[in-house]
Amino acid sequence: MMTKTKSEVGFLDLRETYLEIKEELDRAARRVMDSGWYILGREVQAFEEVFAAFCGVRHCVGVGNGLEALQLILRAYGVGASDEVIVPANTYIATWLAVSGAGATVVPVEPVERTFNLDPARIQAAITKKTKAILPVHLYGQTADMQAICEIAHERGLKVVEDASQAHGARYEGQRRGAIGDAAG
Ligand SMILES: Cc1ncc(COP(=O)(O)O)c(C=O)c1O
Repeated sequence: MMTKTKSEVGFLDLRETYLEIKEELDRAARRVMDSGWYILGREVQAFEEVFAAFCGVRHCVGVGNGLEALQLILRAYGVGASDEVIVPANTYIATWLAVSGAGATVVPVEPVERTFNLDPARIQAAITKKTKAILPVHLYGQTADMQAICEIAHERGLKVVEDASQAHGARYEGQRRGAIGDAAG
Protein backbone atom coordinates (compact mmCIF):
# COMPACT_ATOMS: atom_id res chain seq x y z
CA MET A 1 0.00 0.00 0.00
CA MET A 2 1.24 3.52 -0.89
CA THR A 3 1.40 5.98 1.98
CA LYS A 4 1.79 9.71 1.55
CA THR A 5 4.65 11.32 3.39
CA LYS A 6 4.69 14.94 4.50
CA SER A 7 7.64 15.76 2.24
CA GLU A 8 5.69 15.13 -0.98
CA VAL A 9 5.13 18.15 -3.16
CA GLY A 10 1.59 18.33 -4.48
CA PHE A 11 0.61 19.38 -7.98
CA LEU A 12 -0.29 23.02 -8.52
CA ASP A 13 -3.95 23.45 -7.60
CA LEU A 14 -5.40 25.26 -10.63
CA ARG A 15 -8.80 25.52 -8.94
CA GLU A 16 -7.37 27.95 -6.39
CA THR A 17 -6.17 30.19 -9.18
CA TYR A 18 -9.60 29.98 -10.80
CA LEU A 19 -11.33 30.88 -7.53
CA GLU A 20 -9.28 34.08 -7.24
CA ILE A 21 -10.93 35.50 -10.36
CA LYS A 22 -14.01 33.26 -10.51
CA GLU A 23 -16.60 36.03 -10.95
CA GLU A 24 -14.74 37.63 -13.83
CA LEU A 25 -14.06 34.31 -15.59
CA ASP A 26 -17.62 33.06 -15.15
CA ARG A 27 -19.00 36.31 -16.54
CA ALA A 28 -16.66 36.14 -19.56
CA ALA A 29 -17.46 32.47 -20.24
CA ARG A 30 -21.19 33.19 -20.07
CA ARG A 31 -20.81 36.20 -22.38
CA VAL A 32 -18.99 34.10 -25.01
CA MET A 33 -21.44 31.18 -24.78
CA ASP A 34 -24.41 33.54 -25.07
CA SER A 35 -22.90 35.26 -28.11
CA GLY A 36 -23.00 32.05 -30.21
CA TRP A 37 -19.64 33.08 -31.80
CA TYR A 38 -16.99 30.58 -30.69
CA ILE A 39 -14.18 30.91 -33.26
CA LEU A 40 -12.19 34.11 -33.88
CA GLY A 41 -14.51 37.15 -33.94
CA ARG A 42 -14.68 40.11 -31.57
CA GLU A 43 -13.54 38.25 -28.45
CA VAL A 44 -10.28 37.06 -30.03
CA GLN A 45 -9.67 40.48 -31.55
CA ALA A 46 -10.19 42.10 -28.16
CA PHE A 47 -7.78 39.58 -26.57
CA GLU A 48 -5.14 40.30 -29.23
CA GLU A 49 -5.34 44.05 -28.62
CA VAL A 50 -5.26 43.80 -24.83
CA PHE A 51 -2.49 41.20 -24.73
CA ALA A 52 -0.32 43.15 -27.20
CA ALA A 53 -0.69 46.25 -24.99
CA PHE A 54 0.05 44.18 -21.86
CA CYS A 55 3.25 42.81 -23.43
CA GLY A 56 4.26 46.19 -24.87
CA VAL A 57 4.38 44.89 -28.46
CA ARG A 58 2.72 46.14 -31.65
CA HIS A 59 0.98 42.94 -32.70
CA CYS A 60 -0.51 39.83 -31.16
CA VAL A 61 -2.15 36.98 -33.09
CA GLY A 62 -4.36 34.61 -31.14
CA VAL A 63 -3.78 30.95 -32.09
CA GLY A 64 -4.81 27.59 -30.66
CA ASN A 65 -1.90 26.91 -28.27
CA GLY A 66 1.75 27.56 -27.48
CA LEU A 67 3.15 24.85 -29.74
CA GLU A 68 1.19 26.20 -32.70
CA ALA A 69 2.35 29.75 -31.94
CA LEU A 70 6.03 28.78 -32.07
CA GLN A 71 5.65 26.63 -35.15
CA LEU A 72 3.73 29.33 -37.04
CA ILE A 73 6.41 31.92 -36.20
CA LEU A 74 9.16 29.64 -37.56
CA ARG A 75 7.15 28.97 -40.72
CA ALA A 76 6.46 32.69 -41.16
CA TYR A 77 10.24 33.29 -41.09
CA GLY A 78 10.63 30.61 -43.78
CA VAL A 79 12.35 28.14 -41.45
CA GLY A 80 11.91 24.61 -42.80
CA ALA A 81 13.66 21.53 -44.19
CA SER A 82 17.49 21.69 -44.18
CA ASP A 83 17.45 24.55 -41.61
CA GLU A 84 18.65 24.26 -38.01
CA VAL A 85 17.22 25.94 -34.91
CA ILE A 86 19.12 26.21 -31.61
CA VAL A 87 16.98 25.24 -28.61
CA PRO A 88 17.67 24.57 -24.93
CA ALA A 89 18.49 20.91 -24.24
CA ASN A 90 16.31 21.32 -21.14
CA THR A 91 12.76 22.47 -21.88
CA TYR A 92 9.16 21.37 -22.27
CA ILE A 93 8.84 19.07 -25.30
CA ALA A 94 6.69 21.51 -27.31
CA THR A 95 9.73 23.76 -27.91
CA TRP A 96 11.41 20.94 -29.82
CA LEU A 97 8.17 19.83 -31.51
CA ALA A 98 7.66 23.34 -32.92
CA VAL A 99 11.02 23.06 -34.70
CA SER A 100 10.53 19.52 -36.01
CA GLY A 101 6.91 20.38 -36.91
CA ALA A 102 8.22 23.20 -39.12
CA GLY A 103 10.42 20.59 -40.81
CA ALA A 104 13.69 21.93 -39.38
CA THR A 105 16.35 20.22 -37.26
CA VAL A 106 16.59 20.72 -33.50
CA VAL A 107 20.09 21.64 -32.27
CA PRO A 108 20.10 21.31 -28.46
CA VAL A 109 22.40 23.49 -26.37
CA GLU A 110 22.95 22.87 -22.65
CA PRO A 111 21.49 25.30 -20.08
CA VAL A 112 23.02 27.43 -17.35
CA GLU A 113 22.74 25.28 -14.22
CA ARG A 114 21.50 28.10 -11.99
CA THR A 115 18.57 29.20 -14.21
CA PHE A 116 17.99 26.02 -16.29
CA ASN A 117 17.87 28.33 -19.34
CA LEU A 118 19.87 28.36 -22.59
CA ASP A 119 23.57 29.10 -21.97
CA PRO A 120 24.75 31.88 -24.35
CA ALA A 121 28.37 30.80 -23.85
CA ARG A 122 27.58 27.50 -25.56
CA ILE A 123 25.61 28.89 -28.50
CA GLN A 124 28.46 29.96 -30.82
CA ALA A 125 29.82 26.42 -31.05
CA ALA A 126 26.41 25.12 -32.14
CA ILE A 127 25.93 27.60 -35.01
CA THR A 128 26.44 26.23 -38.53
CA LYS A 129 25.70 27.51 -42.05
CA LYS A 130 22.25 25.94 -41.68
CA THR A 131 21.30 27.77 -38.46
CA LYS A 132 18.34 30.10 -39.00
CA ALA A 133 17.10 30.90 -35.50
CA ILE A 134 17.70 30.67 -31.76
CA LEU A 135 14.72 29.66 -29.63
CA PRO A 136 15.36 30.58 -25.97
CA VAL A 137 12.81 29.46 -23.36
CA HIS A 138 12.00 31.37 -20.16
CA LEU A 139 11.58 28.25 -18.08
CA TYR A 140 9.62 28.33 -14.80
CA GLY A 141 9.14 32.09 -15.24
CA GLN A 142 12.90 32.70 -15.13
CA THR A 143 14.38 34.77 -17.90
CA ALA A 144 16.93 33.47 -20.37
CA ASP A 145 19.95 35.77 -20.83
CA MET A 146 18.31 37.71 -23.66
CA GLN A 147 20.93 40.41 -24.01
CA ALA A 148 23.73 37.93 -24.71
CA ILE A 149 21.50 35.74 -26.89
CA CYS A 150 20.29 38.69 -29.00
CA GLU A 151 23.86 39.97 -29.45
CA ILE A 152 24.98 36.60 -30.84
CA ALA A 153 21.89 36.42 -33.07
CA HIS A 154 22.44 39.90 -34.49
CA GLU A 155 26.12 39.20 -35.18
CA ARG A 156 25.25 36.00 -37.02
CA GLY A 157 22.07 37.21 -38.76
CA LEU A 158 19.76 34.83 -36.89
CA LYS A 159 16.18 35.29 -35.73
CA VAL A 160 15.40 35.09 -32.02
CA VAL A 161 12.06 33.42 -31.28
CA GLU A 162 11.16 33.51 -27.58
CA ASP A 163 9.24 30.65 -25.99
CA ALA A 164 7.45 32.63 -23.26
CA SER A 165 4.89 29.91 -22.54
CA GLN A 166 5.96 29.77 -18.89
CA ALA A 167 6.58 33.47 -18.43
CA HIS A 168 3.42 35.46 -19.19
CA GLY A 169 3.83 38.86 -17.59
CA ALA A 170 7.42 38.32 -16.40
CA ARG A 171 9.78 41.23 -16.97
CA TYR A 172 13.43 41.45 -18.09
CA GLU A 173 15.09 44.81 -17.53
CA GLY A 174 11.73 46.57 -17.71
CA GLN A 175 10.48 44.73 -20.80
CA ARG A 176 7.92 41.95 -20.75
CA ARG A 177 9.02 38.44 -21.67
CA GLY A 178 8.22 37.93 -25.33
CA ALA A 179 8.88 41.56 -26.27
CA ILE A 180 12.65 41.29 -26.70
CA GLY A 181 13.31 38.81 -29.50
CA ASP A 182 12.02 39.12 -33.08
CA ALA A 183 8.84 37.27 -32.14
CA ALA A 184 7.47 35.18 -29.30
CA GLY A 185 4.96 32.50 -28.54
C1 LIG B 1 8.07 25.95 -22.32
C2 LIG B 1 6.82 25.57 -23.06
N1 LIG B 1 6.79 25.72 -24.39
C3 LIG B 1 5.68 25.42 -25.11
C4 LIG B 1 4.55 24.93 -24.48
C5 LIG B 1 3.38 24.56 -25.32
O1 LIG B 1 2.21 25.19 -24.99
P1 LIG B 1 0.82 24.48 -25.31
O2 LIG B 1 0.64 23.37 -24.31
O3 LIG B 1 -0.18 25.57 -25.18
O4 LIG B 1 0.91 23.95 -26.74
C6 LIG B 1 4.54 24.74 -23.09
C7 LIG B 1 3.36 24.22 -22.39
O5 LIG B 1 3.37 23.94 -21.22
C8 LIG B 1 5.70 25.07 -22.36
O6 LIG B 1 5.76 24.92 -21.03
